[in-house]
Amino acid sequence: MVVLGIETSCDETAAALLRDGREVVSSVVASQADMHRAYGGVVPEIAFRKHLELVNPVLDETLRKGGLDWPDVNGVAVSNGPGLVGALLVGVASAKVVAGLLEVPLIGVNHLEAHVYANFLQHDDITFPLVCLLVSGGHTIILHMPSHGMYQHLGETRDDAAGEAFDKVARLLGLGYPGGPVVDRLARDGDPHAIAFPRAWMGEDSLEFSFSGLKTAVRNFRKKSPDARVEDVCASFQDAVVDVLVGKTMRAAARMGVRTVLMAGGVACNGRLRERMQEDCERRGLALRYPRPGLCTDNALMVACAGHHQLMAGQRSGLELDCFPVLPVKSAS
Ligand code: KG4
Ligand code: ZN
Repeated sequence: MVVLGIETSCDETAAALLRDGREVVSSVVASQADMHRAYGGVVPEIAFRKHLELVNPVLDETLRKGGLDWPDVNGVAVSNGPGLVGALLVGVASAKVVAGLLEVPLIGVNHLEAHVYANFLQHDDITFPLVCLLVSGGHTIILHMPSHGMYQHLGETRDDAAGEAFDKVARLLGLGYPGGPVVDRLARDGDPHAIAFPRAWMGEDSLEFSFSGLKTAVRNFRKKSPDARVEDVCASFQDAVVDVLVGKTMRAAARMGVRTVLMAGGVACNGRLRERMQEDCERRGLALRYPRPGLCTDNALMVACAGHHQLMAGQRSGLELDCFPVLPVKSAS
């Protein structure tokens, strides 16, 4: 079965073709980051207009690169939330047209669930039950997955998401957008112990996160010490984020008694997070899996992969499929 995935929830217009849930036929990601950079973050109105302009060329390019034609597509999967509603609408409308004209099944995919499923694209040795740390620009969530399509929410952020904290700190350091990759790079030449930034543990058993206090601490430090090395600020900030992300994921793994840990979302590209999570998992005998960088950040292969699993389980969406700015990850019913 060849599934066409479509992703337009934020500032990437993406499409992909996936055969039998694992074999990558083609994937195209048109990033709008350059358009939004001047504003220091994603501007919803610009995102919507760019998606409109890019979606058809991206779909054509995906088919061309894969050497397939429209009748070869057996199902269509599209992110229908969470995300910017105008942006999501473009992908959902396109998916409905393709599925309707080809008379193939349509499935609306939760964008967060798609991030988790990027792992199943790359790894064929993932065993359940597991916990997944989902860290993106908009979300920081720990999920427990007893099996495919089943989710239990263990904790999430009460304010900023981890990626948002990276982006905001990069902005106040004048490093541009998106901030995660540049902070990650600069931190490699910095001392993570140079500045003692706070860690929000939120209590001994808590699996909730909070990053807004840390962002304020960086802002205050910057005002007080404008000449401090930016590499040291990046490394110290990054370690404060990573400590909490790793610590709470280990807490969740111990509480649920799982042997497998997954990471997903854009922040899962972070070098220091990967290194520290690997060390802690090894120490506890846990198997850690995460996707390669191109599958961590927004792409349509992950949408096609999650959609493939849902279509195989017999799930379908109707042509009335809607989009949602907020869409919690829920177990398949
Ligand atoms: O998953 P994603 O592509 O989009 C959302 O669904 O939000 O994540 C984007 C986020 C941005 O906040 C970006 O700064 C962050 O992921 N990010 C990183 C790294 N690469 C991307 N954060 C830390 N370190 C990185 N290497
Ligand atoms: Zn995303």
